Amino acid sequence: MHDLTPEDLERLPRHVAIIMDGNGRWARSRGKPRLFGHRNGVENVKAIVDKTFEIGIPYITLYAFSTENQNRPGEEKSGLMRLLEEFLKRELKNMMGDGVRLRAIGDLNGLPEFARNAVTDTIEKTKGNEKWNLTLALNYGSRQEILQAVQSYARKANGSGEDLNWETFSSYLQTKDLPDPDLIIRTSGEFRLSNFLLLQAAYAEIFVSPLHWPDFGQDAFIDALKNYTHRERRFGKTGDQLATTSTKSLPGNS
Ligand code: FPP
Repeated sequence: MHDLTPEDLERLPRHVAIIMDGNGRWARSRGKPRLFGHRNGVENVKAIVDKTFEIGIPYITLYAFSTENQNRPGEEKSGLMRLLEEFLKRELKNMMGDGVRLRAIGDLNGLPEFARNAVTDTIEKTKGNEKWNLTLALNYGSRQEILQAVQSYARKANGSGEDLNWETFSSYLQTKDLPDPDLIIRTSGEFRLSNFLLLQAAYAEIFVSPLHWPDFGQDAFIDALKNYTHRERRFGKTGDQLATTSTKSLPGNS
């Protein structure tokens, strides 16, 4: 099934977030249109999400469409949205059967109506599922999310802001129901976060794969997880201190 040892399984991340990059380059290298890459990318979404839950990782978040992706040609954007709609409609039955809850982060108002409806409909239908958590970042940008959080805090707060700490502030972020990502994977060899979960990534481990997203299959995913399980997460402490401290009690790691 996979070559994760019992020790690896004990050290798996609780939340994996993925920047799925390289669909366009993957298609171009085959002399195909970009949407061919995205279509194969969606097939890989299915493979990776299935594997995530199969090995017991409860949270996965996928960067499916950034605010900057809005600048792409109309045809590519609407093609991507159709693929998203198709995926959600096709997968609903499996999600209900397996206990997968869908969430979205990002400004859904910026999506075409048919795609927004498919997303909100799936969120509504799966909201009672509690076992596994799939979050799609759609029309998402971390800076926009932070600004929005500051605005809602300012509207609610009537004091000096002295009471504000990370715990209260993070409750204004769109990720308020999710633990911070432990591992962020980016495909296609780029070493950037590209406006993805900037604050939530404070202590995340980052893994960059040279593979384009449609080629980053289940085996490559397992290799990334194995790599993660061998890292020492220090959260600013020394190795000796860590030996006597549980990571749960470290700042910002609630
Ligand atoms: C990056 O490749 C990929 C995207 C911008 C879109 C990712 C979206 C999907 C895989 C489908 C979303 C659907 C679901 C079901 C979550 P790129 O186009 O930037 O590739 P390039 O950098 O090589 O041009």
